[in-house]
Amino acid sequence: MEYKAIRFVKRPETEITPDIFETVTLQTPELADREYLVKQTHISLDPAMRTWMSEEPGYIEPVAIGDVMRCLGVGEVVESRNPDFPVGSRVAGVSGWAEYVLGGEDWQIVPPELPVEALMCVMNLPGLTAYVGLNVVARPVAGETIVISGAAGSVGSLVGQMAKAEGLRVIGVAGTDEKCQWLEEELGFDKAINYRSANLEAQLAAATPDGVDIYFENTGGPIQQLVFDCMNRFGRISVCGMISDYNRATPAPGPSWVDINLKALRVEGFVVVDHYDKAPQAVEMLTSLLQGGKLKYRAHTLHGLDSAIEGVNLLFSGENKGKLLVAL
Ligand SMILES: NC(=O)c1ccc[n+]([C@@H]2O[C@H](COP(=O)([O-])OP(=O)(O)OC[C@H]3O[C@@H](n4cnc5c(N)ncnc54)[C@H](OP(=O)(O)O)[C@@H]3O)[C@@H](O)[C@H]2O)c1
Repeated sequence: MEYKAIRFVKRPETEITPDIFETVTLQTPELADREYLVKQTHISLDPAMRTWMSEEPGYIEPVAIGDVMRCLGVGEVVESRNPDFPVGSRVAGVSGWAEYVLGGEDWQIVPPELPVEALMCVMNLPGLTAYVGLNVVARPVAGETIVISGAAGSVGSLVGQMAKAEGLRVIGVAGTDEKCQWLEEELGFDKAINYRSANLEAQLAAATPDGVDIYFENTGGPIQQLVFDCMNRFGRISVCGMISDYNRATPAPGPSWVDINLKALRVEGFVVVDHYDKAPQAVEMLTSLLQGGKLKYRAHTLHGLDSAIEGVNLLFSGENKGKLLVAL
């Protein structure tokens, strides 16, 4: 059977441009023992893809030139020679920009009754990332103040709601007034600040009268120094991502280490792939928040495989409103 796939054919120098991809028609293979074929229904577009396109090895191998572009996907098993993944199962795992993929032994079978948006926006990597960055790395205490950059994004919006449920004062930073309004009015953030507006320093000071105990860092950029300057002694900075640097040839310089020393700050980076063992606790917490009506999410869904080529840049322009997905 013929199917469409998108190959990664050139490393970007800075921004992701359409010429780094090539759309091809491929043929589904004859299955070997324990192989199974998945017809994908949705793929996830994530900021991490930009780091996978770089030549430098990171926490996983870069995507090789000529390979189908890597992503996370969900779909249905349509042919199988693996009894653990029978035909008809709904499965999710690391896949590629393609209509059909071979699933791996490490893929998960997901309950068919779970809506795909809940799976991709909450139960999949965004939820585990939020759980690890908040509860394993930052370790909040009720009454503390947390500031979250990239707050209206798939990870940031979950972090804020989890922190709210744990009794923190929650301040979000996002790039449009619409996103800030969503954070305050729909998700219950105590305050949201548009980092593109004026008087950021004064806005931040007004929003954090007791200083900042936790900074959940998703973006980097000029807001980083301003939040850093408000950190309380024994504060924690959970370094989840630095999207403002991903398209730059040279990363922006960071704050001075003097305050890390004198304020006894703990600055800790993490990558979710090192924390799959925490998935059961994360799923338990996320399920309970979802069932209690304390966790809202929104998906920004594009349509058709080719839409991934231009669509991935919505993450960098900030035009995605919620978890960016492609429905195939
Ligand atoms: N450590 C891990 O294991 C892990 C796992 C998943 C994600 N992450 C990281 O977490 C961060 C958020 O990822 P996500 O999946 O939740 O994406 P997302 O927030 O849903 O989408 C990316 C958002 O980043 C903001 N942004 C883009 N360029 C920016 C810039 N130059 N300065 C400030 N903000 C900018 C935009 O929102 P605005 O409109 O608000 O600007 C955009 O909507 C990323 O840095 C990602 O790499 C890390």
